Amino acid sequence: MFKESDHASRGTKTAVDSDRMVSSSPPFVPRQAVSLNINGKRHDLSLEPRTTLLDALREVIGLTGTKKGCDRGQCGACTVRVDGQRINACLTLAIMQEGKIIQTVEGLAQGEDLHPLQAAFIEHDAFQCGYCTPGQLCSAAAMLDEHQAGAASAVTPDVRTAQPALSDEEIRERMSGNLCRCGAYPNIVAAIRQVAGNKA
Ligand code: FES
Ligand code: FES
Repeated sequence: MFKESDHASRGTKTAVDSDRMVSSSPPFVPRQAVSLNINGKRHDLSLEPRTTLLDALREVIGLTGTKKGCDRGQCGACTVRVDGQRINACLTLAIMQEGKIIQTVEGLAQGEDLHPLQAAFIEHDAFQCGYCTPGQLCSAAAMLDEHQAGAASAVTPDVRTAQPALSDEEIRERMSGNLCRCGAYPNIVAAIRQVAGNKA
C-alpha cells in the first residue's frame, strides 16, 4: 500500500539522483591555444586540453586519413609519426605535441610522387578495405628507420647485431602493433620487404 513516507522517500531519492547527475557532469575546461606542425604546415587551434591528437587531426583539422579504430591503443589504425617516432594518436593529447614535427599519411607522398611504401602496397595488393592502411604505412615508414638505426626487436636472435636482417618474422614482429581485420598480412609483409630490400 502506498504510504506518505514512500512518496517522501521517492522525492528525496529523485532529488539526490539529480544532485548526483549535476555534480557528476564534467567540469567546464576552457579551451587553450595550441599550435601544431603537421606535414610541414602550421595549424593554430583552440582546443580543450583533453582533446587527443587523433580527434584534433580528424575532427578539427579535417585530416581524416588517420583512422580511429579502437580509440584505446590496441589496433594501430591511428599511427602517426611525431619527431620521427611512431605513436598512437589516440593515446596522446594534442597539447603535448606542440613544438614537435607531426607527420600523417597525408604527408607521405611528395606531390604526385607516392612514398615507396605506398607504391609497394599498391603493387602487392596489400589492403582490402584499406581502413588499417594509413596506420600501416606510417608505422612501416618509422619501422624501417628504426631498423636502419640498428634497433633490435623481440625476435632478433642476437641483439648485439648492428643491423639484424629484416626477415618476414622481424617485419611481422615490428609491425605487430598494427592490426588488419581483413588479414592482408602476407601482402603487407611482402610490400614492406620490397621497400626494405631497396633501402638495404
Ligand atoms: S585507434 Fe588508436 S590504437 Fe586503435
Ligand atoms: S585492409 Fe581492411 S583492415 Fe586492413
